[in-house]
Amino acid sequence: MTDTKKSIHGEWSSRFAFILAATGSAVGLGNIWKFPYITGENGGGAFVIVYLLCVLLIGIPIMMAETMLGRRSRQNPINTMITLADEAGADKNWHYLGWMGVTAGFLILSYYSVIAGWASAYVLKAFTGSFFGADAPAIKELFDGFVASPVQLAFWHTLFMLATMLVVVRGVNTGLEKAVRFLMPSLFVLLMLLVAYAMTFDDYYDQGIKFLFTPDFSKLTANGVLTAMGHAFFTLSLGMGAIMIYGSYLPKDVSISRTVFLIAGTDTAVALLAGIAIFPIVFAAGLEPAAGPGLIFQTLPVAFGNMTGGWLFGILFFVMLVFAALSSSISLIEPAVAWLIENKDMTRQQACIWSGSVTWLLGLGTVFSFNVWSEFKIFDRTIFQLLDYLTANLMLPIGGFCIAVFAGWIMKQQHTEHELDMPNPLSYQVWRILICYVSPAAVFLVFLHVVGVL
Ligand code: PHE
Ligand code: NA
Repeated sequence: MTDTKKSIHGEWSSRFAFILAATGSAVGLGNIWKFPYITGENGGGAFVIVYLLCVLLIGIPIMMAETMLGRRSRQNPINTMITLADEAGADKNWHYLGWMGVTAGFLILSYYSVIAGWASAYVLKAFTGSFFGADAPAIKELFDGFVASPVQLAFWHTLFMLATMLVVVRGVNTGLEKAVRFLMPSLFVLLMLLVAYAMTFDDYYDQGIKFLFTPDFSKLTANGVLTAMGHAFFTLSLGMGAIMIYGSYLPKDVSISRTVFLIAGTDTAVALLAGIAIFPIVFAAGLEPAAGPGLIFQTLPVAFGNMTGGWLFGILFFVMLVFAALSSSISLIEPAVAWLIENKDMTRQQACIWSGSVTWLLGLGTVFSFNVWSEFKIFDRTIFQLLDYLTANLMLPIGGFCIAVFAGWIMKQQHTEHELDMPNPLSYQVWRILICYVSPAAVFLVFLHVVGVL
C-alpha cells in the first residue's frame, strides 16, 4: 500500500475539513435529543459519570483506531476489513465486521430520520407561534397530539430522508464542509443562550445541576451502565464505519490523535450544555426527567414560548437541530452508498436511491411505534425501542470491540505506529494499552454485568 493512495470518492480539502465533517457526524440528535432523555431515565449523575468515563477510555482510543483503519485502506468499511486483514495475514471473516457496520447504519438511520422529522416539524411549529405563552401541560399536549399522527410523522420522516439523499448524491465532501463550518458555532451560541435562560430559574443549581453532576450509584442499573457505554459509541459515531469512511477521505499528513481529541471534546461539550440547559427547565416546569424520547420536545418549547426573543430563538434552535441531524444522517448512509458504488457498480445516484428507499421503509416501523403500533412489543419493547437497543447497546459496542481487537492485536504494530504518527512514543504506548486491554475489557465487563455474571 502506497502513501499516495486516495479514495475514489475524493478527499477532504484539509485537516479542518475532516474535523468539520467528523464533528458534523458526531454532533447530532445523540447530543441534544438522546443524551438528556437517557440521562433522565437513568437517574442523572452516576449515569453521566459512566458515560464520560466510557468516552475517555473506550470512545477516544477506538475513534483513533477507526479513523486509522479507514485512512490506511481508503475504501468502504467492508473492503477496508478485507484489505487490512489480508495485509496482516489474518482471517477473511473480518469482513463481517464491515457488514455489521453497514447494517447498523441502516437500522440507526431508519429511526434517526423519524426523530429528525420531529425536529423539522418543530421548526414549523416554532414559526407559526405554537409555543407562545404556553405552559408545560399545553406543550406536552401539543407533542402527544403530534406523535399520535402516523401521517404527520411519516410526512416529516419522508422529507428528512429526501434531504439526506439529496446531500449524499452530491458526495459528502461538497457543500457539507460549508454547512458545518457555520452550523457548529451557531449551535454552541444558541445552547449557551439556553443555559443562560435556565440559570434564571430558582431551581437551576439545586435541582438541575445537582441532578446532572451529583452521582447516586444506587440509581444506576446494569442496563443503565450498558446504555451509558452504548451512548459513548453512538454519540461519537463509532463502531459502524461512519468514522472509518470519513477517515478514508483523510489526507495522509494529518495527525489523527489531535484531531480525534478535538472532535470528541466538542461532542461532549455539546451534550453537557444540552443537559445543563434542559434539566432546570424540566424541574421548574414540574416535568418528569424520565419522560422518554419526547423530553426535549416537551421542555424547550416552554422556554421558547416564554423568553424574550423566544420566537426567533425557537426557530433557529430547531433549524440547527435539523442541520446537525442531517450532517449525522449522511454519515450513517455513506458506508452503504460507498459499498454499492465500489462493489455493485452503481452510480452514486442509484446507490442513494436504493439505500435511501430501504431506510425510509424501515423507518415506518418507528413512525408507527409512537401511535398505531405502540402496543406491539417484542421483548417488551416497541419497534423503535428495539432498534435503539439493538444498535446503540449491542451492535455498536460489539463493532467497537472488534475494531479495538483488530487494531491492537491483528494489525502490525509498525503499521499502527506509522499511521498514528503520535507526537511522542509515550502517547503511542498509552493508546496501545487502551486499545489492546482497557477498551475491549471494559466492553466485555459491561456485557457480563448486564447478563448478571458480574
Ligand atoms: N453521532 C450521532 C449523534 O450523536 C449519531 C450517529 C451514530 C451518527 C452513528 C453516525 C453513526 O447524533
Ligand atoms: Na454525538
